[in-house]
Amino acid sequence: MTPIILDCDPGHDDAIAILLAAGDPAAELLAITTVGGNQTLEKTTLNALRVCTIAGITDVPVAAGCPRPLTRPLRIADDVHGESGLDGPTFGDPSVRVSGEHAVELMHRILTTHPEPVTLVPTGPLTNIALLLTRYPEDAERIREVVLMGGSTERGNVTPYAEANVYVDPEAAAIVFAAEVPVTMCGLNVTHHALVTPEVVARFEGLAGALGRTCVELMTFFGSTYRRLFGFEAPPLHDPVAVARVLDPALVRCVDAHVAVELHGELTRGATVVDLHGYLGEPPNAKVAMTLDADPFWDRVLAAVSRLG
Ligand code: BDR
Ligand code: CA
Repeated sequence: MTPIILDCDPGHDDAIAILLAAGDPAAELLAITTVGGNQTLEKTTLNALRVCTIAGITDVPVAAGCPRPLTRPLRIADDVHGESGLDGPTFGDPSVRVSGEHAVELMHRILTTHPEPVTLVPTGPLTNIALLLTRYPEDAERIREVVLMGGSTERGNVTPYAEANVYVDPEAAAIVFAAEVPVTMCGLNVTHHALVTPEVVARFEGLAGALGRTCVELMTFFGSTYRRLFGFEAPPLHDPVAVARVLDPALVRCVDAHVAVELHGELTRGATVVDLHGYLGEPPNAKVAMTLDADPFWDRVLAAVSRLG
């Protein structure tokens, strides 16, 4: 089992990432930490607690982290994820409670006490991870790998070249890519192949119980915004792809490359400049995801949700 901490901003796809990380036997989910991103920190944290409650995830600490990016105001994605950040289902009051510890302190404590190095899986802006690496640089050697959802080898989804998680806090992303830790980037070029097709929705519908129904309601809302805003026939479920890469690296094939984050571009701020052909002469600093094996990916997601539900 790979010990992981999921750092997220739920978010519809983050919600399924939580279920995959908690329900798959290949991962040991040590903590869920939250960050301001798709919605305010207050809402993303509440959403993490809601997901844990409905899925019966009661033994994993949930801790709130940074409410805003390192140097910029927060840009939320209520157009994609709605007013609550998790629009679609109706949730009751969560019975799972938030930890009193700041996310960065919880990550630091786990990293320094866990017997093995731990994999960090950020699926929101990289603010918490950058703060951890800046405040506790010695923790780098306790991090087995950072496997993040963010960036793209191609185009963006908030500006022509920038993907949302990197765009929201590019300074944090730059710190992570420059750090002395192994980094794997799962960007839009692969996550756009994790499509919630009608067949996938039907598989969620086929699961017995409230959790399967909640997933269907989440996917229905997410599908409607992706159709309206981006013209997708089926929405791409970005965040679970990063979790899947940790569970079974063969599902998400990567190449080594140098990745830089555009911080000052007039039109390209927040773009990940992925030097696939070595033009810049810089050594690779990341593994960059290039392909997703979608069928076994969905098998794994469905099996995890079914195990929890
Ligand atoms: C990323 O942005 C967020 O809206 C999603 O949760 C995902 O992490 C995709 O660009
Ligand atoms: Ca996310």
